[in-house]
Amino acid sequence: MAELSFTLNGQAQSLTVDSGTPLLWVLREHLAMTGTKFGCGMGLCGACTVHLDGNPIRSCSYPAEFVSGRHITTIEGLAAKDDTLHPVQQAWLEMNVPQCGYCQSGQIMSAVALLATNQSPNDADIDAAMSGNICRCGTYPRIRKAIHRAAELSVQYYQPVTNAEAES
Ligand code: FES
Ligand code: FES
Repeated sequence: MAELSFTLNGQAQSLTVDSGTPLLWVLREHLAMTGTKFGCGMGLCGACTVHLDGNPIRSCSYPAEFVSGRHITTIEGLAAKDDTLHPVQQAWLEMNVPQCGYCQSGQIMSAVALLATNQSPNDADIDAAMSGNICRCGTYPRIRKAIHRAAELSVQYYQPVTNAEAES
């Protein structure tokens, strides 16, 4: 058995699971975070993408005991506490990206990780960063457009409030 203690979407979690249990099953079966999906189970499709300390990982093939003491973010943890959507989620809505939707939480988590390190990605940057996320519905053109839109929204979203605005 493995004792786990980690932070999930800002909340402390402690639980015991069988050794070697993939993080995906801990999230879905033990913690009811079902927004993260099971696709291939082999680290090949990206449907199970979550963030470990801000970096994207494939939770289907990541042993849960390796996350102890660390921070996990899932799709459920992206929006602000007041339910304001993350710019990537907002852009996804504006561009009507999903078709069946199955791959989309993984796509969004990879896009968020891309924009955290590159605020103005070009098409080649996007294709490189998103190449591990497969969409059987072929939503790739809309994903690309949505990431460009999210980059625009992120500038506004993270714009510091000036003193004059704060006082008005
Ligand atoms: S389900 Fe994890 S990469 Fe496919
Ligand atoms: S929207 Fe259907 S698999 Fe991507």
